[in-house]
Amino acid sequence: MLSSATQILACLLHSQLSEQVSIVPARLKLTLSSHLVSLQTALSTPTRARLRPTFDSLCELDKIRRCHPKSKLLLRLKPPKEDAQFPLGSKFGALKEEVIPLLRAAQESSLDVIGVEFHVGSGARNPEPYRSAIAAAKQVFDTALTLGLPRMHVLDIGGGFKACTRIFYDLVHTINGALRDFFSGESDLTVIAEPGRFFAETSFTLATNIIGKRVRNDLREYWIDDGAFGSMNCILNSGETLPAPIVVKYWNKHGDLTCNEEEVITYPSTVFGPTCDASDTILRGCQLPELQVHDWLVFPNMGAYRASCGSNFNGFNTSAIPTHLVYSNPTTNI
Ligand SMILES: Cc1ncc(COP(=O)(O)O)c(C=O)c1O
Repeated sequence: MLSSATQILACLLHSQLSEQVSIVPARLKLTLSSHLVSLQTALSTPTRARLRPTFDSLCELDKIRRCHPKSKLLLRLKPPKEDAQFPLGSKFGALKEEVIPLLRAAQESSLDVIGVEFHVGSGARNPEPYRSAIAAAKQVFDTALTLGLPRMHVLDIGGGFKACTRIFYDLVHTINGALRDFFSGESDLTVIAEPGRFFAETSFTLATNIIGKRVRNDLREYWIDDGAFGSMNCILNSGETLPAPIVVKYWNKHGDLTCNEEEVITYPSTVFGPTCDASDTILRGCQLPELQVHDWLVFPNMGAYRASCGSNFNGFNTSAIPTHLVYSNPTTNI
């Protein structure tokens, strides 16, 4: 994945880099296939000339040798440390002890391994995994030279970046430091990033409508029209807890749609998704004001790995949820 998105991140990184390490996004005219297990057809498409497959197994290497022997490869490394909302290391990336056998196999097959890729997990919570992965990548660069392979020149630091400014700038600071510490000797290094959630996360707000209600003593129970088999699948897939939503009352006493109206009295509340499955429970023990059918619960930052991971389960079609583009013009205040 190389897009303007990648370029923006690369520019942000570039803005803080030492002059020994230069990142020039405009030069990057290639298509990365970061899926470690590619379909044979994907490796055989007409656009494959620009394809840069990644690999972490002998099986994949053999497939690439048969289907796309002239490709330039990246070796995907399992990061030594992970601290992310969605770790990926249990599924992807070569172990340290697998690096030499994989590089030797590539060499014997005359395959061109041009660099290293890693992904520290999506939604990185702290910068250290990037530093240790960059250090490990440098060791692979050195190992390749020791084995007599051509000098590697691409370092792909994957994704994982959250849009939250403070965490992002911590990550950038650490990544730049690690690039300086470990790669300043590599004169023609190209650094690639593959940000996904960085761009998607905060771009979407999910507005759910209350479609049912039950009162049991103090407890308020609400049903909403989206849930764990739709845009909120993160609850089932990764045990994520969603933050308390913003409440929007359908009608307030003035007859307007209101947001965050001050409510003195709140009740312990449960919020269920619409399906027949009891695990489709969005919030428990959340303090909410008294709500009625047609009121709204609004969840910000729902753009990354949300609706795209939903299903049609129980007849609720996630892809049928309408998306509204909201545009505001700061000059007219509209
Ligand atoms: C290989 C690869 N690159 C990039 C991404 C994007 O990651 P993120 O959304 O955490 O930035 C993913 C997400 O799973 C991925 O698997």
